[in-house]
Amino acid sequence: MPDLTTRYLGFELRTPVVASASPMTSDPTSLGRLEEAGVGAVVLPSLFEEQLVHEAADLDAMLDHNAEAFAEATSFFPDLQDYNTGPDQYLETIAEAKRQLRAPVIASLNGTSTGGWVRYAREIEDAGADALELNIYLIAADFSLTPAEVEGRYVDLVESVRAAVDLPLAVKIGPQLTSVPVMAQQLVRAGADGLVLFNRFYQPDIDPDTREITPNLVLSASEELRLPLRWIGICYGRVDASLALTSGVHEVADVAKGLLAGADVTMTTSALLRKGPSHVRHLTEGLHEWMVEQEYDSVEQLKGSVSQRHAPDPEAFARANYLQTLSSWSSPFPA
Ligand SMILES: Cc1cc2nc3c(=O)[nH]c(=O)nc-3n(C[C@H](O)[C@H](O)[C@H](O)COP(=O)(O)O)c2cc1C
Repeated sequence: MPDLTTRYLGFELRTPVVASASPMTSDPTSLGRLEEAGVGAVVLPSLFEEQLVHEAADLDAMLDHNAEAFAEATSFFPDLQDYNTGPDQYLETIAEAKRQLRAPVIASLNGTSTGGWVRYAREIEDAGADALELNIYLIAADFSLTPAEVEGRYVDLVESVRAAVDLPLAVKIGPQLTSVPVMAQQLVRAGADGLVLFNRFYQPDIDPDTREITPNLVLSASEELRLPLRWIGICYGRVDASLALTSGVHEVADVAKGLLAGADVTMTTSALLRKGPSHVRHLTEGLHEWMVEQEYDSVEQLKGSVSQRHAPDPEAFARANYLQTLSSWSSPFPA
C-alpha cells in the first residue's frame, strides 16, 4: 500500500492533493465533499487588500471604474461583495471550515502593499486558521519602479505579515520575475515557510464593439502545468521551504509530475470547478494506482526524483532541451 502522506508547512497531510483558493472552498457543502474525497488541505478564497482598506460602497465604485488596477479582484468576480462578504464574514468562514474539517485550513490574504490592512493576518490567526497563504498579485505596470524595487515590495510585504503572525506562512507568486530562484530565497529569508508556484495572471480582453476592457475569467488547462513544473524542479532541494505547485493540475498524471518535479503538494482549482469536489477522489485514487504500477512506496520517495538536482544534465533541464524541442516540430505542410 503506497503511503500518500506528505509534509506541507509543517503539517502531515493525508494526500498531496490540495484544493486551492476559489469560491468552492468557502462553501460548507463543498468543503465536506472535499474532505470525504480525501483532500490534503484546503485554501480558503482570499480576503483582498482592497476590501480591507476601502468601504464597501467605495470599493464597488472603484471596481466598476478601475478594472485594471484591481486586476485580480475584478477578474474573479466583478462584484467582490458577492464572492467574499468582507472581513467579519471571512473570520466566520475560517471558524466554520475548522469546525467541519480534519484537514488543515489555510486562509488567504491577497495584497501588494504593506500597511494597516496587514493586521488582518493576526485576526485570521485568532479565528483559528492553521496557516496563511499570502497571494502577492502584483502587476509591475509602474514605469517608475525598477525590478529591484518591485522585488523589494514582495520582501517588505512578507516581512510585515511574518511580523504579525506566528502561523505557518506560504507565499503565492506569479512567474513574471527576473529570477524566480533568487526571489524564492529572499522570500524564505523574509519569513515564508512555503512557496506556491504559480498564481495565474488573468489577462484582460477588449470588447471591440463597446471598446471596454473586459476582465473575463478563463479556467486553466493541463498544458499550463509546464511553467510551474520547471520552476518547482529548479527550486526543489535548494530552497528551504515547502513547495506547492499550482496552475494546470487537472489529471492524475499532473499530480504525479508535480511530485516528481519536487512539489510537496499539488493544488487544483479549475478542475474542481469543472468536475466538482469528488474529482479529488479521482486524483488521489489514481495517484495510488500509478504508484503501485510504478513501484513507489511513498510520496516522499518519488518527490523530486525528476528535479534539476537529480538531472544528469542540469543545464539542459533549465533550458528544457530547447534545441531538441524546436527540432521536434514537424510541419503538416510538405515543403
Ligand atoms: C473562480 C476562481 C476564484 C479564485 N479565487 C482565488 C482567490 O481568492 N485567491 C487566490 O489566491 N487564488 C484564487 N484563484 C486562483 C486559484 O487558487 C489557482 O491558483 C489558479 O486557478 C490556478 O490553478 P488551476 O489551474 O488549478 O485553476 C481563483 C481561481 C478561480 C478560477
